[in-house]
This record gives sequence, structure tokens and C-alpha cells, in this order.
Amino acid sequence: MTSSYSQRRARLMHRMQQAGGGVAIIATAPEVMRNSDAEYPYRHDSYFYYLSGFMEPEAYVVLVAPPAGTPRAILFCREKNAEREIWDGFRYGPQAACAAFGFDAAFDVASLDAEIPKLLADMPALYCALGRDAGLDAQVRDWLSAVRGQARSGVAAPATVHDIHPLLDEMRLFKDAGEIDIMRRAATISGGAHARAMRLSAPGKTEYQIEAELLHEFRHAGADAPAYTSIVATGANACVLHYRAGAAVLQDGDLVLIDAGCEFAGYASDITRTYPANGRFSAAQQQLYEIVLAAQEAAIAAARPGAGFMDGHDAAVRILAQGMLDTGLLQRDRVGSLDDVIESGAFRQFYMHRTGHWLGMDVHDVGDYRQAAGSAGDQAAGAGAKDAARPWRRLQPGMVLTVEPGLYVRPAEGVPEAYWNIGIRIEDDVAITQGGCEVLSASAPKTVAEIEAVMRGAS
Ligand code: GLY
Ligand code: MN
Ligand code: MN
Repeated sequence: MTSSYSQRRARLMHRMQQAGGGVAIIATAPEVMRNSDAEYPYRHDSYFYYLSGFMEPEAYVVLVAPPAGTPRAILFCREKNAEREIWDGFRYGPQAACAAFGFDAAFDVASLDAEIPKLLADMPALYCALGRDAGLDAQVRDWLSAVRGQARSGVAAPATVHDIHPLLDEMRLFKDAGEIDIMRRAATISGGAHARAMRLSAPGKTEYQIEAELLHEFRHAGADAPAYTSIVATGANACVLHYRAGAAVLQDGDLVLIDAGCEFAGYASDITRTYPANGRFSAAQQQLYEIVLAAQEAAIAAARPGAGFMDGHDAAVRILAQGMLDTGLLQRDRVGSLDDVIESGAFRQFYMHRTGHWLGMDVHDVGDYRQAAGSAGDQAAGAGAKDAARPWRRLQPGMVLTVEPGLYVRPAEGVPEAYWNIGIRIEDDVAITQGGCEVLSASAPKTVAEIEAVMRGAS
């Protein structure tokens, strides 16, 4: 994929030149200590990786895009170090990294502070991440003051500093075919992990034992790690939205909610399935499950080019709210008609989150959910400059999002007891295509019949 990384750098530099030229500096993530002498597993910065494909810590991408002339992409990374490589393993060093990752030049990261002021000299603008990392903000200030210090020699410092994230967010929002392939692979591994968890679940097992089965499948299939902390929630725990995997024992009659996805080759998957610990849905469980499934199918049907980002949510809410009225979770004499329930937000007692989010290198991936102020759609809707007034973004091929409606029934007065403590969410990863969408996570068993068959041990 080296070429897609250099193509992204070229596209970004082209845009910077169109805007008058400048220098972009993108740092990777720092290594973080967990406790004495022990580090957290290292994870690169997503923006840095998007532009480089380089996974070592202590590295910077510097893109020099002069107002006119040929732009240059430079990598700063750790020098080869025979001693450190005995302890920590292989590092490319600038020379090999330059060739392997397709840069125009590469330097030892130790020379960064000396080199950056030279690269910034007489350039109109600096692009970097602003206000997100105090260390980087301080470095930027030092680099700028080093260039400004040369003013008497006739060197001009960049007059403007731009936040680079909005430019990169917009690029990252649209996945190319190579990225979709990776995300399909990530989702397929995670789908296999959900199937494994279902197969190996039984009353008497603990949530953490089921979590272990997910991890087994992720790593066994070559995934890097979970893309986020797995949720394995049995019984009433499923109604706690950010529950982790605890020590609760799966009881006969519980539903188990698992929200877990692996990160594969730098890309996240994000899947939720809910299934009965004993392999058979009870009548009440199945009733609510079919409502959530219908809501999810309606939201997936709304995932197509031209639809608004919230169309899927609105479709799901309509079906969930109707289900709440049909089952008596909400009583018509108290909450009124379906339209009243939607208008008043009464459905939020049992469905309190949104139906999806962008998915990519980050599980809650970057990208604006609303149309840019002043865009054609924005003007058509007569919206003002205020964020909240901007219309929701229209879906386009290459966007990837999750579709994840749910129902969470906490015990409360007036709520039929048969449904108490049932928590259900069904979440898939969906790529928008020319003709509609592709469900990347289709390998995870989903219908009642599929789940019960997998849990019976049928293939
Ligand atoms: N697993 C995080 C989410 O569903 O948004
Ligand atoms: Mn999600
Ligand atoms: Mn999730």
C-alpha cells in the first residue's frame, strides 16, 4: 500500500498549494508508560499512519508544499541503533524508511529542531494539529520563534497557522478500495469472534471467559488488538451502555450483549450481537429482539448514496418507538401516538443513543457529520453559520458507518415486568457503495434462527 500513502501525501500537498502553499507537520503518537518500566502497547497516530504507513514511534511526516514548484514529502524517524535494536527490535532508520515508504527524503528525528526552522523559512503557512497536545504546541511555538529569530537576515516566518485535521478528516472519511478490503477483513474476523463467543457460551461461564474467546479469535486470525474495550454484558448489565467485561456469571435465561471488534492493519471493526446464554430466546426476548432487528434492517436500507446521515436513525427510531407502543413498554394513554412519542422523545427511556457513527482507523472515526457551512445543500436548507443549523451530511460511496439500534429496559413502574433487564443492541459495519451499501460484518450471526443454529452447534 506504499503507493496509496504517497498518493495521499501528494493530494494533501496539492491542496496546500491550491491554498497558497505551506509546510505540514504531522507527528505520530508518543509512547506511554503504564507503570514502572512497562509501556502500554504502542499504537501509532491515525493521521500520521494515514500519510505514511510507518508504525515506529518518534516519527514525523513533514510535507513541504511551496506556493510554486515541486512539493516534497520528508520523514523524520529514529536512527538505526544496534544497541537499542538488541532490546527493542528492528528499526528502519531514515535511509531504509525513505525507500520503503516512498518519501523524497528522510532524516534522523534528533535533527528535527534544527531542520524544521529551515523548512519553514519563507513559507506562507504552517499546517499542524492545533491545541491537541501540549508538547506539540510547545514545539510549534519553538520552531516558529526560531524562524522569527532570523527576521533580520531577511527570512520570513509563516504568517498563518492552520489546523490540519479538518483537511485530513475529510480525506479519511472517504475510504478507497484498499481500505474497504482491510475493513472487510477486520469485520470478518470480528464476525468470527462473535460466532465463537456464541458457540462457547453457556450458563455458568463468566463474562471474562467469553471476553477471552473474543481475544483468542482476534489474535488467532492476525488482528492487532481489540479496536476498543470489549463489552461482554450478561443480564441486567446489558442495560449499562459502557459496561466492560466483568466477572458476572451467565445465568440460564440471560441475554448476553457483546460489543467487540478487532483492529486489523490499523482499521477498526465495531460489531454488537445479543444472544441467549442458554441458546434459546424466550418469548419476551425474541419479541424485543425482532423489533431491534427490524429497526436495524430499516436503518441499513437507508444507508445509500444521497440519504442523509440521520435518515437511518430516524427510520430505526420509528420502528423502535412503534415496538415500544405495541409491547406496552410505552403506554398510549400516557405518551400518545407514534408521532407524539417521536416528537416528545419519550422513546429515549429505552433507546438513548444515536444509531451510528463513522468508522475507519478510529472506531469513532473522523469526519464532519454535517454539511460544510455555505455548501449547496446548506444554502438550499436556508441554514445559518451555526453548527447545529447545518443539515446532516449526505452519504456518498466510500463512507463507512455503523448501524447500531438497541432497546434497553430498566425496571420501572409501568414497564411490563417480562421485559425488565433486557438489553439488546445489534450493530453492523456498513460501507456505502454506488448502488446502496455493503454490510462488511455480515459474517456475524444475526437472525434469531441463525443465532440459535450456531449455538446448537449447527454449522
Ligand atoms: N463500540 C463503540 C460503539 O459502538 O460506538
Ligand atoms: Mn459503534
Ligand atoms: Mn460498538
